[in-house]
Amino acid sequence: MNRSDQSPDDTPRLAAPGCPVGAEHDQEIAEIDLLSPLTIRGVTFRNRIGMAPMCQYSAADGMADDWHLVHLGSRAAGGAGLVLVEATAVAAEGRISPGDLGIWSDAHIAPLARIARFIESQGAVAGIQLAHAGRKASTDAPWRGGASLSPAQGGWPVVAPSAIPFSEAHPVPAALDEAGIDSVVAAFEAGARRALQAGFRVIEIHAAHGYLLHQFLSPLSNHRSDAYGGSLDNRMRLLLRVAERLRGLLPETLPLFVRISATDWAEGGWDIEQSVVLARRLKALGVDLIDVSSGGSVPHARIPLGPGYQVPFARQIRNEAEIRTAAVGLITEPQQADAIITTGDADLVLLGRELLREPYWALKAQQVLGEEPGWPAQYGYAVRRRAR
Ligand SMILES: Cc1cc2nc3c(=O)[nH]c(=O)nc-3n(C[C@H](O)[C@H](O)[C@H](O)COP(=O)(O)O)c2cc1C
Repeated sequence: MNRSDQSPDDTPRLAAPGCPVGAEHDQEIAEIDLLSPLTIRGVTFRNRIGMAPMCQYSAADGMADDWHLVHLGSRAAGGAGLVLVEATAVAAEGRISPGDLGIWSDAHIAPLARIARFIESQGAVAGIQLAHAGRKASTDAPWRGGASLSPAQGGWPVVAPSAIPFSEAHPVPAALDEAGIDSVVAAFEAGARRALQAGFRVIEIHAAHGYLLHQFLSPLSNHRSDAYGGSLDNRMRLLLRVAERLRGLLPETLPLFVRISATDWAEGGWDIEQSVVLARRLKALGVDLIDVSSGGSVPHARIPLGPGYQVPFARQIRNEAEIRTAAVGLITEPQQADAIITTGDADLVLLGRELLREPYWALKAQQVLGEEPGWPAQYGYAVRRRAR
């Protein structure tokens, strides 16, 4: 089918709550593919290819700079429909490393706004992931080994739901008290307000990979006996509070995403069944999409890495919680990514490392899937012309 015949708004094709999903639903969306536009609330993505958030460990005092502009801007010029800025710390102590981007002060807004403007000027949607690393904060950049940093090395004390370190090589975190938890919620809210001021049109809450919000979700890192620990309801409470607060802050027209780890890949940990319950609760609060990753909460996780290994989780959450999902993880080939959309596994495909290798991957995918690549005007007329 000619793609221009498709409605840019896929909303009618998504199952309404209570409607059948699964095979019947898949038939309904058969004509949607990787290159089809996707509309969520008032935002239309030109295709279903997104750049996954990827820390660059390259900021000073959390400030975005020219590296971040080129890193993110080139993937927007390269045809992605969504470009998600890396985990951006809502509090200075919530940085994974001293080089993380931050959004804990108004001074962070202007350099981020420059990036959001450029991404949008290239036809992509600018999104940002808001994060707090909790007990996994205060570490060195991975290319220097990623070890925990002592205060003498420029590190800082870390916080968590419980005083349980990530590993023997990590410091024992201070368990947050209720006032500390309230300040985390307030920091996410202030960060989201600044992200809106900077012009981002998608906000993603980072609740995956063993960082603070995931630490509350997982029984392996959360041993609290108050309203934030124990039962599933209690472990979800902090993330649900953050999501509710951010949904209340965002205009109706802008989507809110949440990235989760669908499983800890570890005995007694967070798992896909709990993730489905969580996704339903997030949907009820007005969250628009679950970005489905996995792992990160304990160092001993056994992860069966392989092409598209997390995609079945995206599919299960999409089918059982009836919410849009993004699939991510070892998705490298255009046909593989296209099949994820056409079979109804997910609504959006995010690429990480493959987009580092090939910033113009989305243009390549257009060519491979039989479309004219949407080159930027500055390149398009030139690459189509034969060399003289
Ligand atoms: C350099 C690098 C930095 C990353 N930083 C983040 C991050 O800031 N937030 C996040 O949720 N995931 C982060 N990830 C995980 C990616 O978003 C993605 O989920 C993961 O790399 C799997 O996708 P891939 O196989 O396409 O790379 C990072 C991955 C890489 C390689």
